[in-house]
Amino acid sequence: MLQGKRIVLGISGGIAAYKGVELLRLLVKAGAEVHVIMTRNAQEFVTPLTFQTLSGNPVHTDLFNLYQEQEIGHISLADRADLLVIAPATANLVGKIAGGIADDLLTTTIMATKAPVLFAPAMNVNMWENPIYQRNQQTLTDLGYHFLAPVRGELACGWEGEGKLPDPQRILDECRRCLTPQRLAGRKVVVTAGPTREEIDPVRYLSNHSSGKMGYAIAAAAWRHGADVTLVSGPCALAAPAGVRLVAVDSAVAMRKAVLDETGSADIVVKAAAVADYRPKQRASQKMKKGNDGPTPPVELVRNPDILAELGEGKRDYLLVGFAAETNDLEENARAKLQAKNCDLLVANDVSAEGCGFEVDTNQVTVFSKDGRNEKWPCLGKDEVAERLIDLFAGQLGAAG
Ligand code: CTP
Repeated sequence: MLQGKRIVLGISGGIAAYKGVELLRLLVKAGAEVHVIMTRNAQEFVTPLTFQTLSGNPVHTDLFNLYQEQEIGHISLADRADLLVIAPATANLVGKIAGGIADDLLTTTIMATKAPVLFAPAMNVNMWENPIYQRNQQTLTDLGYHFLAPVRGELACGWEGEGKLPDPQRILDECRRCLTPQRLAGRKVVVTAGPTREEIDPVRYLSNHSSGKMGYAIAAAAWRHGADVTLVSGPCALAAPAGVRLVAVDSAVAMRKAVLDETGSADIVVKAAAVADYRPKQRASQKMKKGNDGPTPPVELVRNPDILAELGEGKRDYLLVGFAAETNDLEENARAKLQAKNCDLLVANDVSAEGCGFEVDTNQVTVFSKDGRNEKWPCLGKDEVAERLIDLFAGQLGAAG
């Protein structure tokens, strides 16, 4: 998504300038062409040579530098950028832009660009809470500038509170969002992901191989496209995607409750979770002992609720998307599930095929729609599958008005 994008990375003078180095590395790794502008104070914290070496481009520092002007020029930097990201953005820098002051290369470039601008402020907690700073940020937010709020923590100045620059990975996610068309703005999306765990006793459970990767990628993509996203997830090893509200559950019964609580005002419900079909009839309150040479203890199973089928049955005005994990007769099984569970779309994958399935980063899916059509996509990264699905969902919502 950042491949070939021209990004201006602005570094202003705060101790968090060193994190700008890591952000630059991530941007370059993601395929962006990055041009760094440093304020005079920023150069007190990190040398331009560090940014120059990692970006592979000259670092811009002076507004009136004849050599730099000839090479690229500040207006040219502003014109050619797809995105400006300022990390860290000091209170001083935000204040200057809010007041219309352009007295160095960075502020001039911000004022001169028509590209989206993302500020990642970092400062002392008292400066952050100062109504003057807050008013300046609000002024810029109202004008369409993007802000990524600082996080709480121990600050370099010794105070504890809000003011830390978020992780570079979080800033990268926000950059991707700023460059994504907001096709799901104002929409609420509920995604389920991961396996469920059905407890046998306090130490053992029944589950499956789902890693949650596909559902998490869909939740992340929906957020990038502007949706308000809730991710109902069974236990898995993934971190909550940026901007997404995570509701962690364990069993199918808990997942059902969470999903029903969340779908009230949803526009899209995506059931990517691998829900266990059965659970032990009774959960032993103490660890079951194997005993000596005794008979194998029986575990009697009962059916779990089928959450997707229940949603399909009482379906309201949302787009309902099911998933199907198959190992054989994919088309026949997928069409039968689509119909039986009253879905609008069903995303089927053959989990036994190479490059597909639970723990890998790629997937090859066929998407069936209720009008009888289907699209078979090539084997793609799960992020790419998620992007394509979001495109499809947005198209369907658009067509439905
Ligand atoms: N699903 C669900 N609740 C269940 C079982 C499945 O909501 N108790 C949903 C899954 O989240 C998925 C779809 O139903 O969106 C299909 O799940 P899958 O495991 O492929 O199929 P099952 O319906 O369980 O049928 P089978 O196991 O017989 O293939």
